[in-house]
Amino acid sequence: MRKNILMLSLVAGIVALSGAGMSANSAKAAAPASGAESCKDCHADQVASFMKSRHAKGAVTGPNGTGVCLTCHGPNLTAHVAAGGGKGTGAFTFDKKADAEARAEKCLTCHGDSKHLALWESSKHRSSGLSCDSCHSGHSSLAKNLKMPQVELCFSCHKDVKAEAGRQSHHPIKEGKVSCSDCHDPHGSFNAKNLKADSVNELCYKCHAEKRGPFMNEHPPVAQDCLICHTSHGSNHNKLLNERTPSLCQTCHVGTSGHYGTPFTLARGFTPNTPTTVGTNYSSGRAVARSCLNCHAAIHGSNGPGVYGQRFAK
Ligand code: HEC
Ligand code: HEC
Ligand code: HEC
Ligand code: HEC
Ligand code: HEC
Ligand code: HEC
Ligand code: HEC
Ligand code: HEC
Ligand code: HEC
Ligand code: HEC
Repeated sequence: MRKNILMLSLVAGIVALSGAGMSANSAKAAAPASGAESCKDCHADQVASFMKSRHAKGAVTGPNGTGVCLTCHGPNLTAHVAAGGGKGTGAFTFDKKADAEARAEKCLTCHGDSKHLALWESSKHRSSGLSCDSCHSGHSSLAKNLKMPQVELCFSCHKDVKAEAGRQSHHPIKEGKVSCSDCHDPHGSFNAKNLKADSVNELCYKCHAEKRGPFMNEHPPVAQDCLICHTSHGSNHNKLLNERTPSLCQTCHVGTSGHYGTPFTLARGFTPNTPTTVGTNYSSGRAVARSCLNCHAAIHGSNGPGVYGQRFAK
């Protein structure tokens, strides 16, 4: 179907171009070197790069393979050629200064009804002035016609995310095991931050299904929102945690009576080599090594029996 559209535009392109060749300034148009069908003479690099791109594969049949240029750079190429080329002489340009909407419109002529682009109109990228060619090239032979490999592309604008993804604990984005588009739809989505799921948790369950439960003993914040304890891209604490234990736990489990609520001072809690505090003092065991997790290991919920199960210790 889409191929048919491409073929149609292509045929239209060749007709328009060759028709123009006859009516325009005959001296210029007749000479093969500057003929409308021969963008190649002046734009050898763009013709060569386009020929290697996905759009050209099996689709370019015009003279010198250039008729198809009209689909994106038309409709006034005849004028451009008649003028002997040059800026502002009729060729539609994707220069960054050109109107973003008009640039997108060129692509949407063929891709407008794609389900991938259904939410483009309401996307943050569009309202921030980006256009298709901010990410895609008309002349690239990379996957999905991207200007550069995906992660590099997204990092080029989202420096903060790049910094996060470089932290000690991070989703393996740089390593190429997870890509931005596994979690976000760059073309827009119904959900906050272009997420590809109805909620943060639904997104996380796609790859961490075992955290969904159901658990006999649930830890309420887990089912509520994973990001209460975790960050999405990277963290300086282990396991993408927002904070290290025990402070993480103590943001909610506070009080002076429970064993978990007693304050952890440097003197009492974080000096494992002080003989009176390790092993012998119950409270210090909550701050060393994995802290609360030494005992409460099933922190996302437990199906363990009895009180140990209820306390996520099994
Ligand atoms: C006689 C040489 C010549 C021919 C033939 C020619 N161009 Fe150009 N074109 C130029 C020159 C020179 C420029 C200005 C380049 C610059 O300043 O960077 C240009 C600019 C462009 C631009 C950018 C326009 C702008 O306003 O910035 C596009 C797009 C373009 N050409 C496409 C084409 C296509 C498609 C064809 C074939 C139908 C074609 N050109 C044929 C010489 C030519
Ligand atoms: C912010 C960057 C960005 C912008 C802006 C953008 N895209 Fe994309 N597009 C991507 C990425 C990344 C992919 C690859 C997604 C993947 O691999 O899952 C993609 C994929 C596509 C695909 C292929 C869909 C498929 O998987 O078959 C089409 C078609 C497409 N984009 C067209 C467009 C059009 C048209 C526009 C402008 C209206 C546009 N894109 C704007 C980043 C972008
Ligand atoms: C699918 C749409 C598409 C087709 C078809 C296409 N181009 Fe482009 N062209 C672009 C986009 C988008 C850019 C902006 C730079 C980039 O993406 O690499 C561009 C850039 C250019 C430029 C640099 C001036 C500018 O506008 O930025 C020239 C010259 C050019 N193309 C010539 C051609 C020629 C010659 C053909 C035919 C062989 C062709 N293009 C086919 C989309 C297309
Ligand atoms: C004349 C129609 C037409 C125009 C104009 C057009 N495309 Fe396409 N595009 C296609 C067709 C056909 C395919 C191949 C679809 C397929 O194989 O499923 C395609 C494929 C793509 C793909 C997927 C490539 C891949 O590797 O899977 C992307 C991304 C894309 N186009 C982006 C763009 C962008 C960005 C523009 C504007 C600069 C544009 N297209 C203009 C018809 C068009
Ligand atoms: C040309 C620059 C540019 C590129 C490339 C780019 N973005 Fe963006 N992105 C922006 C701007 C500008 C905003 C809006 C301001 C902001 O929230 O930072 C934005 C916003 C976002 C948002 C937040 C959306 C919201 O609703 O708040 C997400 C998520 C996002 N981009 C993901 C991506 C992904 C994934 C890629 C790579 C496929 C990407 N971006 C590539 C510029 C870019
Ligand atoms: C494992 C899933 C996942 C991956 C992979 C991922 N993100 Fe995100 N991203 C999220 C979640 C979840 C949020 C937070 C949404 C919220 O706060 O509601 C987010 C938020 C964002 C935001 C908005 C930040 C803000 O402060 O508003 C941007 C921009 C963004 N991501 C860009 C990217 C880019 C670029 C990549 C790839 C380099 C990427 N993300 C990879 C899950 C992911
Ligand atoms: C597209 C799949 C995918 C999605 C979606 C996803 N993750 Fe991951 N996650 C991974 C992969 C892959 C790893 C690395 C696993 C490994 O190295 O064994 C990982 C690792 C983790 C780790 C351990 C990090 C470490 O340093 O060991 C945590 C915590 C995590 N993810 C939380 C989340 C949260 C929270 C969400 C939802 C916001 C989420 N993940 C969404 C794929 C995903
Ligand atoms: C109450 C805080 C909290 C919430 C909420 C939470 N986690 Fe965790 N998560 C932790 C802690 C603490 C660890 C480290 C456990 C360890 O080191 O043994 C962890 C570790 C992980 C890991 C890596 C180790 C493993 O068990 O696989 C993944 C993946 C993970 N969480 C995913 C999730 C997902 C998905 C959600 C939401 C459904 C979520 N977490 C909600 C506290 C939480
Ligand atoms: C966002 C707040 C929040 C955070 C952070 C949090 N919890 Fe909880 N936790 C709760 C709530 C709410 C309950 C349910 C309390 C109830 O049922 O009375 C609970 C229950 C528990 C229970 C079972 C207690 C009972 O009475 O059944 C244990 C054990 C526990 N949490 C340990 C931890 C540990 C260890 C951490 C740190 C890794 C942690 N929690 C982080 C909110 C939190
Ligand atoms: C040495 C093992 C151990 C460590 C370390 C530990 N706990 Fe516990 N915790 C337990 C056991 C066992 C229970 C169940 C006791 C009972 O209910 O009879 C429990 C019960 C709880 C309860 C529910 C019962 C109550 O007292 O209200 C919470 C909440 C709790 N722990 C949080 C924490 C937090 C937060 C930390 C870290 C600051 C922590 N625990 C460190 C072993 C430990």
